[in-house]
Amino acid sequence: MLSYNIIFEKIRFALENLNFTRKPEELYNPISYTLSLGGKRLRPVLCLMACDMFGGKIEDAVPAALGLEIFHNFTLLHDDIMDEAPIRRGKQSVYKKWNTNVAILSGDTMMALAYGQIMETPENIHSQVFQVFNQTAIEVCEGQQYDMDFETAENVDIEDYLEMIRLKTAVLLAGSLKIGAMIGGAVTEDAKNLYRFGENIGIAFQLKDDLLDVFSDEQKFGKKTGGDILTNKKTYLYLKAFELAKGEILETLNILFDGNQNNDTDKIKGVIEVYEQLNIKQLTDDLIDKYYQRAMSSLEKVNVDDSRKMELIKFAEGLKGREY
Ligand code: IPE
Ligand code: IPE
Ligand code: MG
Ligand code: MG
Ligand code: MG
Repeated sequence: MLSYNIIFEKIRFALENLNFTRKPEELYNPISYTLSLGGKRLRPVLCLMACDMFGGKIEDAVPAALGLEIFHNFTLLHDDIMDEAPIRRGKQSVYKKWNTNVAILSGDTMMALAYGQIMETPENIHSQVFQVFNQTAIEVCEGQQYDMDFETAENVDIEDYLEMIRLKTAVLLAGSLKIGAMIGGAVTEDAKNLYRFGENIGIAFQLKDDLLDVFSDEQKFGKKTGGDILTNKKTYLYLKAFELAKGEILETLNILFDGNQNNDTDKIKGVIEVYEQLNIKQLTDDLIDKYYQRAMSSLEKVNVDDSRKMELIKFAEGLKGREY
């Protein structure tokens, strides 16, 4: 089995070798900028680990892995416009550094570049991989639309939220694993179980992202703390707080989110206080654990020797305690 370090290094090298020194510069500079700012490279790592798990040649999966990372970065360009997020990976987000039109168009180009990479997948598996990638891309957009709709919707429940994050985040992690597995030669049943593992890890991952959005060190997280609070995102933290809040606490929450709060810092501070009173951090961690357990039971069903699953388990477990 290849170690995480070797896999990460392969991805880093392949990404560095992509060349975007083309014209017009206003289109390509934001692409180089984004891809060079780092990031965890989670999706390509999952793709190559899955390929390796079934004994495939990881070189065969490198183009798809790049396609998945480029696609992910494209979603971030547009997501930051939609979420009015000024900071990404500790630097100005593209729409802030350039402008909204640049972020839209560079993003569109990245989407096409991602498909270009997917096309480089070995021919015998090409159309199946394309199909999974395309379905995933559509579902991510569906999730993103729900996320936006929910900002102003009043009757969102926790089940709606979980389905929204499954779509906007989890399916891309799951799809990355499935694509890697398919290229590695996995049988359908194994690819399916690995997909389920990815969905569950992905839900846990987004829950953690929502938690870090409120309770994190901005320097480490690389995103503006409290962004979800300011945009009234219907996160698990928000929904659970409204479910548990009674009397005065409920009144405070209603006032904080009623739209008339014009001081951002006060709103964030007030909401965090309520979350602390209601023990929301612990409750979110508990739900994250639950999805981890589900993920592990999906992984157990994958028919390869346990020793071949170790790198993936280590990597997934590592994400649980992440601070960025
Ligand atoms: C950010 O994804 C978007 C979410 C789905 C939460 P990552 O947390 O994987 O972002 P990078 O690529 O490591 O910056
Ligand atoms: C991101 O959700 C999902 C996608 C980009 C598809 P978030 O909006 O929570 O991601 P961050 O926090 O901006 O990275
Ligand atoms: Mg966002
Ligand atoms: Mg978003
Ligand atoms: Mg977030």
